[in-house]
Amino acid sequence: MRREHPIAVLGPEAEGVGGGGAAAGAVAVAHPNIALIKYWGKRDERLVLPVSDSLSMTLDVFPTTTGVRLKAGAGPDEVTFNGVSASGEALRRITGFLDLVRERAGRDARAVVETRNTVPTGAGLASSASGFAALAVAAATAYGLRWEPRELSRLARRGSGSASRSLFGGFVQWHSAAEAATVEEADAASYAEPVAAAAGLDPALVVAVVNAGPKEVSSRAAMRQTVATSPLFGPWAASSGEDLTAMRAALVRGDLEAVGEIAERNALGMHATMLAARPAVRYLSPATVTVLDRVLQLRRAGVAAYATMDAGPNVKVLCRRADAARVADALGAVVGASSVVVAGPGPGARLLDGGDS
Ligand code: PMV
Repeated sequence: MRREHPIAVLGPEAEGVGGGGAAAGAVAVAHPNIALIKYWGKRDERLVLPVSDSLSMTLDVFPTTTGVRLKAGAGPDEVTFNGVSASGEALRRITGFLDLVRERAGRDARAVVETRNTVPTGAGLASSASGFAALAVAAATAYGLRWEPRELSRLARRGSGSASRSLFGGFVQWHSAAEAATVEEADAASYAEPVAAAAGLDPALVVAVVNAGPKEVSSRAAMRQTVATSPLFGPWAASSGEDLTAMRAALVRGDLEAVGEIAERNALGMHATMLAARPAVRYLSPATVTVLDRVLQLRRAGVAAYATMDAGPNVKVLCRRADAARVADALGAVVGASSVVVAGPGPGARLLDGGDS
């Protein structure tokens, strides 16, 4: 049986998980997170420094499990996703990330990376968040870097910005460090950490999968185009800072209606910045809008339900856990019951450890 423990208490023996010596390895699991205050726009592409702070909820569904084993001999990194060899851009992204880890660890060994995703990849369902969070924990451990979660969140950020938030469970804020005087200071100060929420909040996120296929435009490309050309981007980023302050206060109060209202306006505003880009980037499909109408009807019927959408057509609806079944039924009537998943707040990334890793 596997033993699980939080990454902060890793002992020196963890370096040898799955082998020891030249064949060190580690296995980690992480869950996706959904932003209630969105990360949209980078101010430094290489370091993945965001324009503004973001705030998310880590989910308890769709985990990614990633194993990293160091190769004893020569040859390139080998990467598989759900048993299929990665190539092209996907492989390049992982190898580039491992290069960062190797540089920090002062080691050259190439690695074998095996990832199992339980969420459709590239469909705006945050597979890159759980993916790079799990990879950061497994790779850092395999290469002998025994880092605290905050450092690991800085590392995960370099793979995919939203991944920095999946290091932690529950509600999490990723700091933009926009006020830092130098880029080095910003790099050091741009990490995620948990934020407080009232125990009575008891939220659920009901995911309505409108389309599980990969998106046509990557979030990376869409962000770049929005920042460079959308006249709405600056005003949205400024209002997002105000949204975040109001959201934190609403979380502490346990005010689900306020949390939902702020989340919905922040997400619609983010999509408005994209629609105003030149040329426009549009992830929302007719089915997305039908789901949004259904959410409005639920609210009119007295159910506190609020929508958020990421770089894809799928809709995630925040509500009370006590209302989740009713919300899931209503969304299932639009997208089909098998395309609806109810999620609650989930745990942070952690190392799996044991002889079977
Ligand atoms: O982490 P990336 O580069 O996949 O960007 C994700 C951006 C959004 O999902 C749209 C918003 C967010 O904060 O997660």
